[in-house]
Amino acid sequence: MAKNPLHTPFCEMFGIEYPIIAFTHCKDVVVAVTNAGGFSVLGEAMHTPDEIAADLKWIRDRIGTKPFGVDLVLPASVPPAGGLDELKSKIPQGHRDYADMIHKKYDVPEPKGKEALHQWGGLNQQMARAQLEVLLEERVPLLASGLGNPAFILDAAHARGIKVFGLVGKTRQAKREIEAGVDGIIAQGFDAAGHTGEMGTFSIVPEVVSIAQGKPVIAAGGVTTGRHLAAALCLGAAGVWTGTLWLASRESDVDMIIKERLIASTAEDTDFSKSISGMTMRVLKCPWTTEWKKPEAPAPLPAPYQMLLSSPYIQGANDNRRGDLMTEAAGQGVSFVTAMKPARQIVMDVVDEALTTFENLTGDD
Ligand SMILES: Cc1cc2nc3c(=O)[nH]c(=O)nc-3n(C[C@H](O)[C@H](O)[C@H](O)COP(=O)(O)O)c2cc1C
Repeated sequence: MAKNPLHTPFCEMFGIEYPIIAFTHCKDVVVAVTNAGGFSVLGEAMHTPDEIAADLKWIRDRIGTKPFGVDLVLPASVPPAGGLDELKSKIPQGHRDYADMIHKKYDVPEPKGKEALHQWGGLNQQMARAQLEVLLEERVPLLASGLGNPAFILDAAHARGIKVFGLVGKTRQAKREIEAGVDGIIAQGFDAAGHTGEMGTFSIVPEVVSIAQGKPVIAAGGVTTGRHLAAALCLGAAGVWTGTLWLASRESDVDMIIKERLIASTAEDTDFSKSISGMTMRVLKCPWTTEWKKPEAPAPLPAPYQMLLSSPYIQGANDNRRGDLMTEAAGQGVSFVTAMKPARQIVMDVVDEALTTFENLTGDD
């Protein structure tokens, strides 16, 4: 092949080898993927500024000056400030009763620990601003906004040499962010794990590419193989943003019960539901999501109130390792997560398969 199809503008932007971006909450995955030639983004939305600073140091001690990113969520709809008790007091009684019914029906055990920030989703605008301060001070090479337009942070980030990408589920969100001056867009389709919109990956990626004014567009949602990577590049993407792919990796700190379920799961074992956080989210099916789909269920509350309702269920299930109740964000590409492999090997397998796919298409070898 005359040109390496995997060397994209995203690789140029950050001086990396492969256009494979791992979104993860696990620092060990960040280190393994970065050191294998990919790019990692650590999800820090539910961590305090001090925790974020400590994580950045830990990572930099292990990857040196290689680039990486941090993902925060900056939704305009979260409350300006507020503690746990104040927020809880706003949950309607009908919703509490429905949650209690689920707890009784499935004998959901009590959480063992205190409600930690990352378990109850207690994000407010004050917290998001304090998180951003750490990233600016630490000059993290890439800041990604998982939810919400990052326009307001662009000047401060650019003044420090930080690139800003926005993750979107609709073309019109991408247009707003491109016009505001973001450095790139992650265009995410319905297949994805976690919070996601209703457009399919195959539809949103080329639409966003066509309005991106030449800025790199990264494809997300259902990408778990080299064939997906090759297809994303053919759609005009400059790389792929992947979450589910790393959950069952050796380095991942996800519970072994969940790793085994992911390996056994196919796309149909995932659910698309507002019942966890109040926003549409794809997760492994579990009794909580099934019960909130029933006609008699109240409509899920907006964020962060629904998360306050679901967190005792999730934390109780996790703390007590109740496999019949546990869930995790997972995308439809989970069908291709079939073994627990080291993250470096996952990178290499995706690269090999993508190159073979291109060779098969062009007849080169
Ligand atoms: C366990 C898990 C947790 C996630 N948490 C976040 C998050 O905190 N912030 C965010 O922007 N995206 C989050 N995501 C979504 C990913 O950033 C990514 O967009 C998604 O996983 C891509 O789809 P895929 O899983 O099909 O690759 C999460 C994904 C997973 C699998």
